Amino acid sequence: MANIIAILNPKGGAGKTTIALHLSRALKGYGSILMVDTDPQGSARDWAEQGGGASFPIVGVDRAGALKGTIQQLTRGYDWIVIDGAAKLEEMAAHAISIAELVIIPVQPSPLDLWACEALVSQIKQRQVITDGVPTAAFQISRAKKGTKLAGEIRKVVADYELPLLNGNIHDRTIFANSLSSGSTAIDEEPEGQAAFEIRYLVKQIVKGFE
Ligand SMILES: Nc1ncnc2c1ncn2[C@@H]1O[C@H](COP(=O)(O)OP(=O)(O)O)[C@@H](O)[C@H]1O
Ligand SMILES: [Mg+2]
Repeated sequence: MANIIAILNPKGGAGKTTIALHLSRALKGYGSILMVDTDPQGSARDWAEQGGGASFPIVGVDRAGALKGTIQQLTRGYDWIVIDGAAKLEEMAAHAISIAELVIIPVQPSPLDLWACEALVSQIKQRQVITDGVPTAAFQISRAKKGTKLAGEIRKVVADYELPLLNGNIHDRTIFANSLSSGSTAIDEEPEGQAAFEIRYLVKQIVKGFE
């Protein structure tokens, strides 16, 4: 049975697809991966067509009602399933929350972006009450700008939601965007670079959580 991780945030541009693709790529060191693209825009599937598809399979699910069934059929075939969430699709998010063991909420370090997560956080907490704390959920600072103090202040705002914040910020780095546009990842292009380091740090925390 696969470990199932959902990357969710109702806001477009939070970095969900960038993190989902990089996370999936980095998890290759820990077993077989399936990525599930729930975004009708299909950015992850576009990446696969650019050449990324050689790294791990990506299936698209465009109907919220089909998400669970698709994953249940495939869960025995993989060690990890990473769900790339879509903006605004609350029903899809609800299904993702109901099947995932871990939800990661990438959030840009701005109070406005955090406030936009309120409904998602309450959806997750309602589910946790029903299923004894499953899924675990945590925020991940995404697209942080170097040299700004905002990320540190944001940690205080996150505390109000009473969900953990993962250690280490994912910074705004051109390699994250540029590598994906050619069907690659920052990990393939610069395995020893800062971007790859940030992703590996995230993966270590995730893998530890599943041990
Ligand atoms: N850490 C990052 N550094 C630089 N650019 C980023 C980063 N994360 C996301 N982006 C860029 O921001 C835009 C939105 O990111 P994306 O991952 O598609 O967000 P979402 O899936 O939440 O809508 C894309 O153009 C992407 O290339
Ligand atoms: Mg996306």
